[in-house]
Amino acid sequence: SQAPKVALLGAAGGIGQPLGLLLKQDPLVAHLALYDVVNTPGVAADLSHIDSNAKVTAHTGPKELYAAVENADVIVIPAGVPRKPGMTRDDLFNTNAGIVRDLAAVIAKASPKALIAIITNPVNSTVPIASEVLKKAGVYDPKRVFGVTTLDVVRSQAFVAELKGHDASKTVVPVVGGHAGITIIPLLSQTKPSTKFSDDEIAKLTPRIQDAGTEVVNAKAGAGSATLSMALAGARFANALVRGIKGEKNVQCAYVASDAVKGVEYFSTPVELGPNGVEKILGVGKVSAYEQKLIDASVAELNKNIAKGVAFVKGN
Ligand code: APR
Repeated sequence: SQAPKVALLGAAGGIGQPLGLLLKQDPLVAHLALYDVVNTPGVAADLSHIDSNAKVTAHTGPKELYAAVENADVIVIPAGVPRKPGMTRDDLFNTNAGIVRDLAAVIAKASPKALIAIITNPVNSTVPIASEVLKKAGVYDPKRVFGVTTLDVVRSQAFVAELKGHDASKTVVPVVGGHAGITIIPLLSQTKPSTKFSDDEIAKLTPRIQDAGTEVVNAKAGAGSATLSMALAGARFANALVRGIKGEKNVQCAYVASDAVKGVEYFSTPVELGPNGVEKILGVGKVSAYEQKLIDASVAELNKNIAKGVAFVKGN
């Protein structure tokens, strides 16, 4: 296969299809390997008719998973079931935990050096699950496993630009912590270009960003959770990983094994990406008192989510 090869696991889903479309259009992707348990040939045939250079291959069902991920440089995982109204991301745990565990076990054998970007929720737990599987197989590298939190960044940037009448494409807001509820911590004080918020604006924007996924779940009224915005976010993050592999260092927020905050093993902060994945953990930087409180409050919740993921692998 040609490099860089990107494998997309869950390629026929609500996120997988538009994410595949965006990856097919990414000029840096040479080979796009689509894997799902259903419908992969149709999605692959459809995408293969697009006149961009990425070669598209279809892989359907567990027997074809090995070939899908073999020699992959980047593996993006949106496989799983989505939320319905009234469900939290953690309610997805039992089904999605098993899916991620089984995918990670094959990746450990077929493609232990790949950078793995996990979208499957609950991300706070599925990243520890994949990591534990890789540890068991003796191939774990904490620099190569990522929970994709880019959608929290994208939403923060959209909401801030909307509120302030700024150019959304030039607005930068780091988001740290995890990818569910109170663990999502937008660092509005670090907004670029530098932006002043009143206490009232911060007190409204912060919970809106934390609950933005639920806005979509409710609006979709049973049809699932965010797919289009998540696909955009996933493609943006995959592109950042590929640029890093190609030697173009760049900074992204991602949920990774980290020593950025004491007392918690996985934490999202800005990280520098490069040829080996995480080159440097940049940490939370200078935060406001309000943000520090949110960070402190997220630790116990994250530890619960992490322990649940670890126990799932260890108990099986
Ligand atoms: N291996 C590969 N693909 C799988 C597996 C598996 N073991 N199990 C399910 N899938 C596929 C489904 O066949 C489907 O095509 O994953 C896809 C999921 O698509 P949707 O049900 O449409 O769900 P989607 O909205 O894309 O969300 C997927 O991402 O954001 C998270 O919370 C969301 O965990 C959910 C996941």
